[in-house]
Amino acid sequence: MAWLIKGGWVVTAEKVEQADLLIEGDKIVARGPGLTAASAEVLDARGKYILPGIIDAHVHYQMPIGNLWTADDFYTGTVVAACGGVTTVIDYAEPTRSEDRLEEVIEHRLREAKDKVAVDFSLHLVLLPGHEDDKKALQAAVDRGLVSFKVFTTYNQRLSYEAIGKCIQNAKKLGALVTVHAEDHDLVMSARKKLEAEKRTSAHYHALSRPPEAEIEAVRRLLHIAKECQAPLYFVHVSTGGAAELIAGVRKEGLKVFGETCPHYLLLTEEVYATKDAPLYLMCPPLRKEQDNRKLWQALAEGHLQVVATDHCSYTPEQKAAGTSFWDTPAGVPGTETLLPLLYSYGVREGWLSLPQLVQVLSTNPARLFGLYPRKGDLNPGSDADIVIFDPRRELQLNAKVLHSAAGYTPFAGHTLKGYPEATFLRGELIYYQGRFLGRPGQGQFIPGKRH
Ligand code: URP
Ligand code: ZN
Ligand code: ZN
Ligand code: ZN
Repeated sequence: MAWLIKGGWVVTAEKVEQADLLIEGDKIVARGPGLTAASAEVLDARGKYILPGIIDAHVHYQMPIGNLWTADDFYTGTVVAACGGVTTVIDYAEPTRSEDRLEEVIEHRLREAKDKVAVDFSLHLVLLPGHEDDKKALQAAVDRGLVSFKVFTTYNQRLSYEAIGKCIQNAKKLGALVTVHAEDHDLVMSARKKLEAEKRTSAHYHALSRPPEAEIEAVRRLLHIAKECQAPLYFVHVSTGGAAELIAGVRKEGLKVFGETCPHYLLLTEEVYATKDAPLYLMCPPLRKEQDNRKLWQALAEGHLQVVATDHCSYTPEQKAAGTSFWDTPAGVPGTETLLPLLYSYGVREGWLSLPQLVQVLSTNPARLFGLYPRKGDLNPGSDADIVIFDPRRELQLNAKVLHSAAGYTPFAGHTLKGYPEATFLRGELIYYQGRFLGRPGQGQFIPGKRH
């Protein structure tokens, strides 16, 4: 079927222009003023913004930890996405043990997603110790379309800095991008030991248990390694102004390092850990201070950080409440559905970001970095017809009732939104309109990434 979206403000990474968009089948076929198409369904978009479908490059659906699962699976998680204007999500294929064969891990994850996903998806490949030098398996992963590897400097999954160096070298040869959760494990452990000795182990102490220095130290060491390898590196969920400044410094020297931050690090502070709701805000790394919020906005505005993604990792308040300490409370918050409206309300309206910058950090940059461009991340003829129609006048006080996550709560409750997605198209099909999900499970496709 064909759609003609008339009279809206089309926003891309480069510019804002009043133009029509013609969709035929699953592609955009024309963009410009005064388009006509006799057989197309016409959607009047006057006064609305037309954006490329948002890409949430960091989500965890259907993820086991211990004997728990995240609240959102590949279906509910991607319904959440559709309702937030997100048409592509990037989740993880994650081995449980170093002995796991990566090819099987990938096929297993693809099967888990296949009949459930309601938007398109891609996968990052998590590497455990030993995987970083399994050149054959890494090559096979890249051939399968997993062109980004994820490593950790902390948790049980952690790799040594030396192993991450090896990983960066191998990825460089394959045209893959290494993404890293950067918190120095020794600093995290020494903070934890100190708090344990003081019997301060509840969720109220979460921020102290993973101090800013842990992130800053890991980023500092990894930047040094990336420099030695002259290879790209991508930091997930940057939470501190200090880490953002280190990344900015190295980028000025010409090194291709990239950073992602999340809405919660831009908009919330560690003060919430003093309240009874501390577990609901417990994620790793923790929330920081207002000055970090500001420095992260500034880093985005100046292009030192390139991506905002959510790290959507949802647990219900009941699952959260089962935790007894900062280390056994399930870590993570829901976020995909509020990504675009929060970034518009607090980023664009507050003057940190222009509309093209909004599209850059939420769509075009992640598409480019993870090998999905130009199929995703743009509104050119030939691109997938993944489109958000965004109403800049729709006002809303955020609360969980208007949202769709199985978490049943939002860490952004009470935030005032001015601007909300009105319609979402996935490859030419209307999957969300004015508060209602119209898609179906299994409608999403795996989008293999292209190597650099
Ligand atoms: O607390 C978080 N972020 N949970 C998800 C896993 C991760 O570290 O990204
Ligand atoms: Zn599984
Ligand atoms: Zn992480
Ligand atoms: Zn994560």
